[in-house]
Amino acid sequence: MSINPILSVENATKYYGGVPAIEAVDFDLRPGEIHALVGENGAGKSTLCKALAGVIPLNSGNLTFEGAEFVLKSPRDAFDKGISMVHQETSLVPQLSVAQNMVLGRERLFNSGRALRNEARQLLRSLNFNVDPARPAGALSTAQRQMVEIARAVYNNARVVILDEPTAALTPEETDHLFFLMNDLRQKGVAMVFISHALEEALIHADRITVLRNGRKIITGDAGQFDRDRLIRHMIGQDISQKTPAKDRAAKPRKTNKPILRVEDVRMGNMVNNMSFSVYPGEVTGIAGLIGSGRSEVAKVIVGQIRRNFGGGHIYLNDREIRYRLPAQAIQDGIAYVTEDRKVDGFFETMSVAENISLGWLAKWAKGIFLPRRARLRAKVQALEKTLSIRGIGQDQSVQRLSGGNQQKVVIAKTLIQEPRLVIFDEPTRGVDVGAISEIRDIIRDIADQGAGVLVISSYLPEILDLSDRILVAKGGTIVAEFSADEASSEKILHAAIH
Ligand SMILES: Nc1ncnc2c1ncn2[C@@H]1O[C@H](COP(=O)(O)OP(=O)(O)OP(=O)(O)O)[C@@H](O)[C@H]1O
Ligand SMILES: [Mg+2]
Repeated sequence: MSINPILSVENATKYYGGVPAIEAVDFDLRPGEIHALVGENGAGKSTLCKALAGVIPLNSGNLTFEGAEFVLKSPRDAFDKGISMVHQETSLVPQLSVAQNMVLGRERLFNSGRALRNEARQLLRSLNFNVDPARPAGALSTAQRQMVEIARAVYNNARVVILDEPTAALTPEETDHLFFLMNDLRQKGVAMVFISHALEEALIHADRITVLRNGRKIITGDAGQFDRDRLIRHMIGQDISQKTPAKDRAAKPRKTNKPILRVEDVRMGNMVNNMSFSVYPGEVTGIAGLIGSGRSEVAKVIVGQIRRNFGGGHIYLNDREIRYRLPAQAIQDGIAYVTEDRKVDGFFETMSVAENISLGWLAKWAKGIFLPRRARLRAKVQALEKTLSIRGIGQDQSVQRLSGGNQQKVVIAKTLIQEPRLVIFDEPTRGVDVGAISEIRDIIRDIADQGAGVLVISSYLPEILDLSDRILVAKGGTIVAEFSADEASSEKILHAAIH
C-alpha cells in the first residue's frame, strides 16, 4: 500500500564550499505521520530540514507538495503552504514580545496589543506552556523559546511541522508533554519531521525513521523494524561497541574533605533561595532539577554573570570568599562555565574553530597583551580539535557554519584550554550525538580524575546518574536532597525534584 506523501524531495543535494552537506537524498513525508530523522553530528539533518522549509535553496533536487512540484524561494513560500519549522537554534526576534513573535507575518489580523496578547495567552495555556506572552523573546529560556516556536506553528495551522531537536532543551516532563501534543497534531492530519539524538524518542514516538550518514540517506523504514543498536549501526556504519568503549566508573573514596567550592545561603531574586552546597576536587557533583529550579542561575552567580542579592549569602573558592563582578575574573581564578546556550555566550560566530578555541586561552593568560607562544598554542588547539573530533566541512570553517553538536564541542574545547580547577557544565551534551556524548562524558570524568572540581547541571537523569559521584537535587531555588552515586536512582531524584 502506498500513501501519497504531502511533502517530498527527490535527489536533494546541497553544497557548501564545494563539499556536499547532503547528497542525492530522497525523503518523503506522509500526512498525519511523525517521521524521525537521526544521524551523527554533521550528518546533514538540519540541512535537509532547512531545504524542506525553504530556509536554504538546494543545488539540485525536486520538491513536491501534495503531488505538485514546486520551488521554495524563501521561508515565506513554505509558510504560505503551511510548512513551519522549529529551529535548532531558535529564530525568534529577541526584541519582540512572545505574542508578537507568534503572529509574525500575520499581525494585520489584530487591532490591539491586548487582543493579541489574550489570544496568545489562550493558545499557550491550551498547549500547557508556561510562558508570559508579554515578555520579550530575548528574555526567555531556551526551552521557553522553543515552546513559542511550536505555538507559532500551531497558531499558523501548519500542515507540516519540522522540529529540529525540539526536545534537546526540555525536561523529561516537558518532553512528554511535547510528544502528547505532537500526537494530537498527528490525529489532526499534521505531518511532522523531528530530529533527535535521543534514539528512544524516535523508536517510541515516530511512525517512520530515516537515517542519514555523511550527507547520504542510509535507510527509511517503519519505526517498528528498528531497535537502538540497529539505528546506531546505520548511523555510524559499525557497532558502537567497536567505537568507544565506555570507561568503567568505580566508586572512589574522597581524597580530601576540603571542598574547592562552598556555596552558602545564596539568594538571587526569586530564582535562588538560600542555596547551599559544596563541590570537592577530584569529584563530579551533579545537580538535577526541573527548569526554573535555580540551577543555571546559581552557576551564573558563581561566575559573576549575574549578581546575587545584596547580602545574598557567601561563596568560597578554597576558603577564600569570592564575589566576581565580571566573568573574566572567574576565569582568571580558574573557574570555567560551559554554558547551555552556546549561541548567546558560547563563541564568536564568524571566527574559525581554531580562533575560537584560542580565545579561551587568551582570556585566561594573555591579559590584554598578545604574547602567546604561537606554536604551542596551535598544537594545543589542534590536540583539542582532535580529542573532541570537531568536524566541519572544509578548512578554517567559521563556527557559525558548524552543525549544532560540533558547536557545542567548540565551547567545551575553549574551556578546556584554560586548564580550570573548577568547571561548571550546564547541559553539556545537549544536541550532541551518541558517539560524541560518550566522548564528552569521558572528558568530564577525566577533568575530575585530574583533580579539578566539576559541577554538572543536567536535565537528563541518565546523564546525571552516569557522571556524578554525588547528586544534588534543586527545587524552587534551593537544594532539597543529596544522594551518593550508590544510593541514587531516577525514582528517588524525580521524587525529590517534584514533591
Ligand atoms: N552555512 C554553512 N556553511 C558551510 N557548511 C555548512 C553550513 N551549514 C552546514 N554546514 C555543514 O554541513 C554539514 C551538515 O550540517 P548539518 O547542520 O545539516 O548537520 P546535522 O546533522 O544537523 O548535525 P547536528 O546533529 O550536529 O545538528 C556539516 O558538516 C556542517 O558543517
Ligand atoms: Mg542539526
